[in-house]
Amino acid sequence: MEMGKNIAVIGSGYVGLTTGTCLADLGNKVICVDNNEEKIAGLKNCKIPIFEPGLELLIKRNSLEKRLEFSTDIADATKKSDLVFLCVGTPPKENGETDLSAIENVTREIAKASNGYKIIVQKSTVPVNTAVGLKGIMKQYIKTEFDTAVNPEFLKEGSAVYDFMNPDRIVIGTESEKAYAELAEMYKPLNAPILHTDINSAELIKHLSNAMLAQKISTINLIAMLCEKTNADIETVAKGVGMDKRIGPDFLKAGIGYGGFCFPKDLDALIYILKKNGLDSGLFEKVRDINYDIRNHFARKISERFDKEGGLEGKIIGILGLAFKPNTDDIRLAPSTDIINKLKSKKAKIKAYDPKAMENSRKILEMEYCDNLYSAAENCDALLILTEWQEFKDMDLTRIRGSMKKPLIFDGRNIYNKERMKNLGFEYYCIGR
Ligand code: UGA
Repeated sequence: MEMGKNIAVIGSGYVGLTTGTCLADLGNKVICVDNNEEKIAGLKNCKIPIFEPGLELLIKRNSLEKRLEFSTDIADATKKSDLVFLCVGTPPKENGETDLSAIENVTREIAKASNGYKIIVQKSTVPVNTAVGLKGIMKQYIKTEFDTAVNPEFLKEGSAVYDFMNPDRIVIGTESEKAYAELAEMYKPLNAPILHTDINSAELIKHLSNAMLAQKISTINLIAMLCEKTNADIETVAKGVGMDKRIGPDFLKAGIGYGGFCFPKDLDALIYILKKNGLDSGLFEKVRDINYDIRNHFARKISERFDKEGGLEGKIIGILGLAFKPNTDDIRLAPSTDIINKLKSKKAKIKAYDPKAMENSRKILEMEYCDNLYSAAENCDALLILTEWQEFKDMDLTRIRGSMKKPLIFDGRNIYNKERMKNLGFEYYCIGR
């Protein structure tokens, strides 16, 4: 059997850890590096810092079979590897510009440690023209031969392992035939279409993919608000529109909008780059605005409903779902946080439950946390669905109705059938229906 490659993955967050682990599972020898010593110490004992379905099993298996190692030492990992993947965070600055300091520092360290031909692969999401700059940094410090490539990731949190193993496409941006051949060979077991591009286009493919997905969501949410005013049904509209193959059915789910660390930050970055290049960024600014409008619209709907009962002060509001989407423990920029803060500012009393995200939420939101969904619903004046976890879809609605003070549900993710809710005796509000 052909031997796998020696790979270093620098940055062990969602992207790096998933990428490194999956590459190990494809038969390569991988060292995942991070500067967080506690995280690396934990990973060495198979303690996984994030919840991501399927990841723990793969980390255990590949660690046991000695294809996967963890380290805090960039230089050592670089020396032992032929391919070095950059997966460090590229957070936004206040003005939307991407903070490249971490990726630049790491690049410098890799260059200094390099002891032979290396392929440096940029996986972090960065503005177009970043790889060109990193290449300049490499040249300044490196003494050996090297090539660079841009290989964006398209992993969704909550299904990252599946997405890695079943990609729609793999984008490899590089001017080097040798680097292209190495990466194409590494990805061969995935049997996916590979697009060979220049490095700048590869960077833009990633940013635009996220921006266009965010745009689809905001478009459907804008029309959801129109549906409410015109007595149409957004689920039906989305279905009909999505049947057009040119539009497609995905990312047309109306709700309280997108959150997470990727869409908001990548959209801001694209807006920043467009402006910097003297172009109109209004299209994507509107996408961002609508994403806030829909949250506010939902929160307003709740407070207006309580106006006839003297406002939200002292009312008990149960929250189901804190994570920005199901199957993750991530609450970064989650719509739930904004909505809860709005209700808290009106002095409502909040009781919340999420299957995975409560530990993270405790760090930023003070409120009552419940052990299960039924205790979150108990004695509530209203119950809010903010993340579409499967267990909320499956919950015993009769039991819920019986335990609430009032059978009032605001569903921010449109997970129930309206007729059924009515028949069960709920006063039920959702989005765009
Ligand atoms: C997103 C992209 O989908 C990935 O391809 C990309 O690799 C990743 O960002 C990244 O740049 O790292 P992610 O943010 O993990 O992935 O999750 P998504 O499934 O895309 O969901 C994003 C948000 O959109 C969630 O808050 C979700 O609730 C919301 N959403 C999604 C909707 O409101 N409606 C939809 O129809 C789909």
